[in-house]
Amino acid sequence: MMRFDRFVEEALYGPQGFYTQGGQAGETAGDFITSPETSTLFGGCVAAYLDQVWQELDRPDPFIVIEAGSGRGTLCRDIFLSVQECSSALRYVMVERSEVQRSHAFDIVAATCFLEAEEAPLTTVKDLPVGPFTGVVLANELLDNLPPRVVQKTRTGWSELYVNNGREEWQHAPQNAQNMASLLVPNAPLGTCLPLHLKAAVWVNRALNLLDRGRVLLFDYGLQQTKDFVERPSGEWIRTYSEHHRAGNPYTEAGSRDITCDVAFDQLPGSPKIVAQRDWLLSQGLHAMTEWAREKWYDAAAAPDSEALGARAVLEEAAALTDREGLGAFLVAEWQVGE
Ligand SMILES: C[S@@+](CC[C@H](N)C(=O)[O-])C[C@H]1O[C@@H](n2cnc3c(N)ncnc32)[C@H](O)[C@@H]1O
Repeated sequence: MMRFDRFVEEALYGPQGFYTQGGQAGETAGDFITSPETSTLFGGCVAAYLDQVWQELDRPDPFIVIEAGSGRGTLCRDIFLSVQECSSALRYVMVERSEVQRSHAFDIVAATCFLEAEEAPLTTVKDLPVGPFTGVVLANELLDNLPPRVVQKTRTGWSELYVNNGREEWQHAPQNAQNMASLLVPNAPLGTCLPLHLKAAVWVNRALNLLDRGRVLLFDYGLQQTKDFVERPSGEWIRTYSEHHRAGNPYTEAGSRDITCDVAFDQLPGSPKIVAQRDWLLSQGLHAMTEWAREKWYDAAAAPDSEALGARAVLEEAAALTDREGLGAFLVAEWQVGE
């Protein structure tokens, strides 16, 4: 019998784990789609943000950008292809737990963005490096893959989820989990299930402590308040994916699928500014970045040539990134450090 978070940790990152074996984001070979895999416009907006933060920090050189959970390196590639003002100061660190993805990502970014791999101001590591740095720590869809503990309200307090031979088993929760759940949602109705994001909170603390000055910027799906999980069954916010499909029960065939959990952002430390991804992308100039495509498509829509069809594809990507029912509803949390 294993506590839920330990079971998921093993199922994702153990020797036979889903990510250890090469599970990844991506449209064709991947298991799920993420914003960087949806469109290069996402990396374009993050690059615009990095240029702006570099100016706000008085142009530090080096300007360290640490991307955690960097996966296939797609976001890193698009950032290097789009940054302007900060490009000569930029030193990029991809932090990725999966060895398969780490080496693949380095090769892709170095080959696409630089003439010589040795000249790429880029490195890949398995865990967050040691600071302090001036710069930005960012991550897309990392927190949802840091396994939470899961508790349920009962008549006698809170019980905690374990996995026993492929089945759920609930045990009386230890006092620290009881206290945390009661503080987060006092008077929760019987049967309420909640995630407790201890790992995500520890990770964010580490990220904040890495910087002497700068920003932490995290994109993920979830809800602003833990109390908003009340009346949502856990099967709605703990999900599994494989080859672009929901993959059913998370408790069997460990390693065969991604296991992910909506993030309760109020459990993260500090007081980040939180906005919807749609609003964040628009604030970074997404609309202006796609102006050329709108003009091209409207001019040629009656008899579109291949360029016009390309422009329409760009507009569709922008629409997917800002969809209020999809990626646009993801949350973006930003912490400022040292100012
Ligand atoms: C959902 S994927 C997102 C990949 C990429 N950011 C994207 O948007 O396409 C999460 C990634 O985080 C990695 N990961 C999980 N825990 C990590 C950790 N503590 N440090 C670094 N990477 C981690 C996983 O191996 C996986 O590649």
